[in-house]
Amino acid sequence: MEASHRKALVRAFYSERAGSYDNEIKKHPILSSIREEIVRECSLIREGSILDLGCGSGLTAFAIRSKSPGVKIVGIDISDEMVRVAKKRAVLHGNSRLIFLVGDMERIPFKDSTFDLVVCINVIRYLDGLEDAFSDIHRVLKDKGWLILVDGDRNSREINDQVVREEILKKHPLEREFVRCDGWSMLFGQNEIEDGLAYTGFRKVRVESRRMYLIARAMKG
Ligand SMILES: C[S@@+](CC[C@H](N)C(=O)[O-])C[C@H]1O[C@@H](n2cnc3c(N)ncnc32)[C@H](O)[C@@H]1O
Repeated sequence: MEASHRKALVRAFYSERAGSYDNEIKKHPILSSIREEIVRECSLIREGSILDLGCGSGLTAFAIRSKSPGVKIVGIDISDEMVRVAKKRAVLHGNSRLIFLVGDMERIPFKDSTFDLVVCINVIRYLDGLEDAFSDIHRVLKDKGWLILVDGDRNSREINDQVVREEILKKHPLEREFVRCDGWSMLFGQNEIEDGLAYTGFRKVRVESRRMYLIARAMKG
């Protein structure tokens, strides 16, 4: 599938579901506990700025905001409807240091060395490869800035179990578009993420497996 077609598909899919996304995703127990863990880590940053790539409706950004009021948080997402939902909520909360923009994580619309931390949850599965995204994340991070990245683990037992796999595909119809008959074309494995981060120049790369998810942490510089 061509990258532009893939992006158009993803944009349309999430724009259609932007209004109901939060309620669906909050029901996911493993992901919810991973998100809580990441929000706790982010809250160690008391000042500076955090970028949430593929922020969706802003679930992670708002959770970080509630724990770290002094930090500037920027969320970007390729779906304008997702961004509209997040912006609307930011206005309701009167959060001026919370900014949401439409943007592509493979062409991050910020200058070099802007952010102290980049978070990216369940987005890289929609990319053709990791190289462009990782090098752009590396570019916008400040020296000694951290990346925390989460996505499904292509090699996990859960994801490769036929029954579980059908359940996932029922709940997440978009993923079916990206699944080849021989496996999960849209998910990456632990080695690909580790190698990709190291190749880009990240240091202290650590990728841990959490059931069907991978959590990667890496530092610039
Ligand atoms: C599964 S949702 C995850 C949303 C959010 N990170 C969360 O944890 O709830 C995937 C999101 O990634 C966005 N997305 C997909 N490809 C993207 C890209 N290239 N750049 C920015 N956002 C993208 C989608 O529009 C969607 O909102």
